[in-house]
Amino acid sequence: MASEFIPVDPFDIVIFGGTGDLSRRKLIPALFHRYRDGQIDKSCKIIGVARSKKTREEFVAICKKSCANATEDWDETIWEEFSELLEYQAMDITRASSEWDNIKSYLGNDGRPCVFYLATTPHIYVDVCKALGAVGLNSPSARLVMEKPIGTDLKSAQKINAGVGAVFDEHAIYRIDHYLGKETVQNLLVLRFANALFEPVWSRNAIDHIQITVAEDIGLEGRADYYDRSGALRDMIQNHLLQLLCLVAMEPPNSMEADDVRIEKMKVLKALKRFKAIDVNQNSVRAQYEAGLTGGSHVQGYLQTLSGENPHSKTETFVAIKAEIENGRWAGVPFYLRTGKRMKNRRSSIMIQFKPTPHPLFDTADRVPNRLVMRLQPDEGMRLFMQIKEPGPGGLRLKYLPLDLSYAENFSVRYPDAYERLLMDVVRGNLALFMSRDEVEVAWRWVDDLLTLWSTTDQPLEHYAAGTQGPLQSAMLLDRDGREWWEG
Ligand code: BG6
Repeated sequence: MASEFIPVDPFDIVIFGGTGDLSRRKLIPALFHRYRDGQIDKSCKIIGVARSKKTREEFVAICKKSCANATEDWDETIWEEFSELLEYQAMDITRASSEWDNIKSYLGNDGRPCVFYLATTPHIYVDVCKALGAVGLNSPSARLVMEKPIGTDLKSAQKINAGVGAVFDEHAIYRIDHYLGKETVQNLLVLRFANALFEPVWSRNAIDHIQITVAEDIGLEGRADYYDRSGALRDMIQNHLLQLLCLVAMEPPNSMEADDVRIEKMKVLKALKRFKAIDVNQNSVRAQYEAGLTGGSHVQGYLQTLSGENPHSKTETFVAIKAEIENGRWAGVPFYLRTGKRMKNRRSSIMIQFKPTPHPLFDTADRVPNRLVMRLQPDEGMRLFMQIKEPGPGGLRLKYLPLDLSYAENFSVRYPDAYERLLMDVVRGNLALFMSRDEVEVAWRWVDDLLTLWSTTDQPLEHYAAGTQGPLQSAMLLDRDGREWWEG
């Protein structure tokens, strides 16, 4: 089965932080791939903006390298065509200056959407928006995309949201969480709401617990400065894992319109049980990796990676949390969340563990309950583990096997990177897969509680060897409840 791409209307995009890591690794290749598939018109302009003085040719060369790295079947002719779309402007984007006129001169004046992508450090978001407002670029056709992290806590997030909101209407602001653009994450919505099968069992009545794991084998990847100030809770839980939790737990929205989806996600975030000093230690684990072996090679521990910058850093590179949602559907069903750097392998999944059958008709094997596993990456797909009869004579033997729906086997397409889908959604004006201001702030409130309690209760920072599944305390978090992490 191959996929069809519906072209989007002509648009222009200005990428602030145009030569930065995100732009090089994700945004430019995403636009290139959409162009290659015929989704982007030749009249579009992609304008990289950054401080460093560069010629257009130098910028094009940077982009070419990134696109070539991200493309298997490279086609020089398509690249040459695509490169015509690229422009570059060196400037200080936090001030209203004459250089903005150069940017304006690149933009089509036919009322087409103009996307301003903030791929910079968040502390200048508000200043950039003020500058955009001052030079009149916050027109009705403008769309502002904000990368995470939006702030470092509730207060700073509110400040950014208020500053940006003073220049752009909420419906023109796209707060991106690239996890929502992943194929399997969107498929979770389809699975839940396009199949009548699941809704009747999608609650505390049939579900024992849920696990959401985003394990990475990589370390800091040159981002030590940012990461050491952030840590896994802010970097991954506040956004990616809470968004996944929302999609698993939310009520069916009235429609797939952004407002309807956002309302339901908000209800979940608001219903998250807040941590208390008395139980924070029982319900959360924070840890940092030490030297170890990954993929057969020895890697440094976190502190060595910081190269002496912060030799006593207590920043967590791993978090495991037992979360609960206080509403009628989920009361008493734990949501175990886990994420970490330098873990055994790169593996992200959502595992829904159903309850066992109420009465054991067969042998003890039928006590292994059904599990639905959504594999987000790699090997995207779904597996529904069930009991079946093992064929052949010699008694009734049960076998626990998955119904396996592998994307790779069913669809002969290249999976678009999450940014490809999300960028096209911005152009189409579809906000459904973007976070609202309220969602970001309520998520921060929950995370802030945890950060405060970790500090006021002196929650210990545990350690784990690189290349493992995290610290022992993470296993104990589930073991206390008579459960264990799904490592499949
Ligand atoms: C980013 C985090 O948002 O997501 C990174 O800042 C993390 O630390 C990345 O590595 C993971 O994304 P993906 O798509 O590779 O799972």
